[in-house]
Amino acid sequence: MIQVTHISKEFVSPKKYPGLKGAVKGLFSNEKVRKTAVDDISFHISEGEIVGYIGSNGAGKSTTIKMMTGILTPTTGQCLINGIDPSKNRMENAQNIGVVFGQRTQLWWDLPLSESFTILKEIYNVSEEDYKSRMDFLNEVLDLPEFFDRPVRTLSLGQRMRADLGAALIHNPKVLYLDEPTIGLDIVVKDKIRDAIRQINAQYRTTVILTTHDIGDIEELCSRIIIIDEGKKIYDGGLEELKNTYGAVRKVTMEVRRMERISEIDWENRLHANSSLFTVQTDSEKNLLTVSFDKNRIQVSDIISSVMEVSDVKDIQIQETELSEIVKAIYRHRI
Ligand SMILES: Nc1ncnc2c1ncn2[C@@H]1O[C@H](COP(=O)(O)OP(=O)(O)O)[C@@H](O)[C@H]1O
Ligand SMILES: [Mg+2]
Repeated sequence: MIQVTHISKEFVSPKKYPGLKGAVKGLFSNEKVRKTAVDDISFHISEGEIVGYIGSNGAGKSTTIKMMTGILTPTTGQCLINGIDPSKNRMENAQNIGVVFGQRTQLWWDLPLSESFTILKEIYNVSEEDYKSRMDFLNEVLDLPEFFDRPVRTLSLGQRMRADLGAALIHNPKVLYLDEPTIGLDIVVKDKIRDAIRQINAQYRTTVILTTHDIGDIEELCSRIIIIDEGKKIYDGGLEELKNTYGAVRKVTMEVRRMERISEIDWENRLHANSSLFTVQTDSEKNLLTVSFDKNRIQVSDIISSVMEVSDVKDIQIQETELSEIVKAIYRHRI
């Protein structure tokens, strides 16, 4: 359904100088700054997949989505969405895709929501019959009737997001792009949005690409993730596989009585392990010591006994790594 082949996007913008003087200088300067926002990325996505597209701020997620939707043209490389190159046939591509940008709305701010839907129905040429069955489904999964007659500007963020998601789906697109769809939402609304995405995917085999900061979205929705960092793809594979490969990290947190003595511990020696296999963090205010370690190489009992030799331990907690930690570790190591 989606074939992205070696796409890159370079932005060239005028060089900025600081201050007012700088602003004036900038007007007369020809100096340019080049920024490669997306750097040689390729992937294929099949019909019906839900793929999480993740990376830290500025990694190039939105730029990739914009190239796939035809808003931006790649500097090099090509996207084919259901066989169509969105930068060449933007209108044709638009019939196949739905897009939601969490940060802004595609709805008409001052019109009642119902009118935005009627306009979109006309734009996409949806027949009366299709529209009706579509709305029956959307009303059910998104609870739109609650606020269908209200102007969009009066909707809460959660209602607006449900409205935007509904609006993106009126023409039954084959591909749905969601750029940060749960940003700023409380947990109840998040759940509702996630549930709706799941149902849309299940019922219509809609292919979904989701960028998000929220690891919860990923865990609940995606079986596959693509991680990008500084414009480059650094991981593409299953979520379970990622957890198994990098999830060997475990964390033990101890509340100790004598924090000042912790620095005496010769960790490498005591754990029989190189320092790359563990990290030690301390919080002296709360008297907490946290050791993250590779559970295949280091015994938790060695950690605990090393600590107990220098201080009493009031409390111990052992945790498996959370997905967010794994993702952070991947960024750090740039694999
Ligand atoms: N129109 C633009 N002009 C210049 N630089 C841009 C433009 N859009 C994005 N960038 C830069 O490209 C990089 C990637 O941005 P973006 O794709 O929005 O990241 P993300 O969505 O992952 O946070 C950032 O460094 C951003 O500043
Ligand atoms: Mg973005």
